[in-house]
Amino acid sequence: MQRTLIILKPDCVQRRLVGPILSRFESKGLTLVALKLVQASRAIAEQHYGEHRDRPFFGGLLDFITHGPVIVGVYEGPEAISVVRKMLGKTNGAESEPGTIRGDFSVSKQNNLVHGSDSPESATREIALWFRPEELVSHQLSGHEWVTG
Ligand code: RTP
Ligand code: MG
Repeated sequence: MQRTLIILKPDCVQRRLVGPILSRFESKGLTLVALKLVQASRAIAEQHYGEHRDRPFFGGLLDFITHGPVIVGVYEGPEAISVVRKMLGKTNGAESEPGTIRGDFSVSKQNNLVHGSDSPESATREIALWFRPEELVSHQLSGHEWVTG
């Protein structure tokens, strides 16, 4: 089992796509371990996207991600990190395959709706950045054996 962090970015919340997108993860068989609506501070956004500090789009990315509330969540499941990344599609929505979240709902390189951790190291770091340990709820859904086999 793996855990991964997702962020439904401000464009997702403003476009009222929170329900349809959480529904995809739920239907896929991932299990929610944590979920909350937050207004991200510039400080947490800088830490979250710290790897992009020197990129030309960094300032704009911070403006975007702090522009309105986001939904932050943790999903658990077999290979959850790569499963979510595949479901997201490519960074640029205009280049993403139909059937992916970005391919179906975005035509933008920045406004691409959802973040997903890109490695086990990133997932561990990001989960600790956005959640206190007691906010993570370990549990097993009834009938889970029908989903994970
Ligand atoms: P994310 O971290 O949000 O899951 O996205 P990603 O891995 O697919 O892409 P990454 O390279 O990590 O970029 C982080 C986010 O920065 C914005 N971006 N804007 N204007 C630009 O050229 C540009 N490039 C990236 C996007 O919101 C991207 O998801
Ligand atoms: Mg990334």
